[in-house]
Amino acid sequence: MAAVAPLREAAPVPYLANAGFFAAQVVRWQRSHGRSELPWQNTRDPYRVWLSEVMLQQTQVSTVLAYFARFLARFPAVADLAAATEDEVLALWSGLGYYSRARNMHRCAQEVVARFGGEFPRTAEALQSLPGIGRSTAAAIAAFCFGERVAILDGNVKRVLTRYIGFEADLASSANERALWDIATQLLPPAASKPEMTAYTQGLMDLGATVCTPRKPDCGACPAAADCAAHARGEPERFPVKTRKLKRSAAALWMLVARDAAGRVWLEKRPASGIWAGLYCLPCFDDRQALLAALPAHHKESELHDAPAFVHVLTHKDLHLHPVGWTTQEGARISPHGAWFDAQAWPGLGLPAPVRKLLQELD
Ligand code: ADE
Repeated sequence: MAAVAPLREAAPVPYLANAGFFAAQVVRWQRSHGRSELPWQNTRDPYRVWLSEVMLQQTQVSTVLAYFARFLARFPAVADLAAATEDEVLALWSGLGYYSRARNMHRCAQEVVARFGGEFPRTAEALQSLPGIGRSTAAAIAAFCFGERVAILDGNVKRVLTRYIGFEADLASSANERALWDIATQLLPPAASKPEMTAYTQGLMDLGATVCTPRKPDCGACPAAADCAAHARGEPERFPVKTRKLKRSAAALWMLVARDAAGRVWLEKRPASGIWAGLYCLPCFDDRQALLAALPAHHKESELHDAPAFVHVLTHKDLHLHPVGWTTQEGARISPHGAWFDAQAWPGLGLPAPVRKLLQELD
């Protein structure tokens, strides 16, 4: 007879008895070892904090610094951003990637003006009702600016917490993710003051970014190592557990680099959804034949010049891009939704990074 598996005991929860201790360690560490000189720190201005948090969602601090400065110089307040055109916002965002963030940011600024009279709401719950502000971003803004006692759970923080408590459950399941949110809430500093909430929130982010890294975490430098479950088991890199991996795909695009006699390039505004939504782009085709067919009737294959193909990596997809050069003396329209742009106009347009690169190589 097959052995009956013993009933599993309910998982012990030592970390909950220890919650205040964990938070105190994080706060103390943040004050001595965390980051304190970033331009969006040492402010309680929700506009600045929001701007930085959205930019930092998928982008490293070192890249965000220059974009943050440029955005603030051009749009010193949320009302300035709300009054801009989407094209201008996308142009300033150009190169940061994940352009839906920029479009949501623009819509969010407009809603802050229209619904809240130009002042960001002061609770995580209300902040979450705005475009592009998810639960963790709302909590970060509310904690940093208003001292609200509310948990964040971005990718870095998931890593820190799942390791600390040895959270074995698969985060591909939304029920498990909800359970981790509950634990993140239980680990908050009990009765935190505003400065404590700021230090705790920033401390979790800093630990995840600088100590509790995905590979080769520096457990010797971690204030929570002494009672970290993953460290005790000698396998911190096993956490977080997430089975469903991103399914990657590949696609090929042929891009027409059409120039007229004056050196202008034909660019089209992309549709409002899909890849590079709302950006200006070279005309794209699924194959070379389709590109040729799009030229005015009497033009021939022999006028095309193939440039070397290259790969542009997106989150879910490798794009194999095939630029094809073509020069025309006529300056006629190539498609209904586009225009000829001269080199002076290019820097001011929202362009996908590979298109910017191709244009820079033209002169
Ligand atoms: N990543 C997300 N938010 C951050 C912040 N406030 N500081 C540093 N890195 C971050």
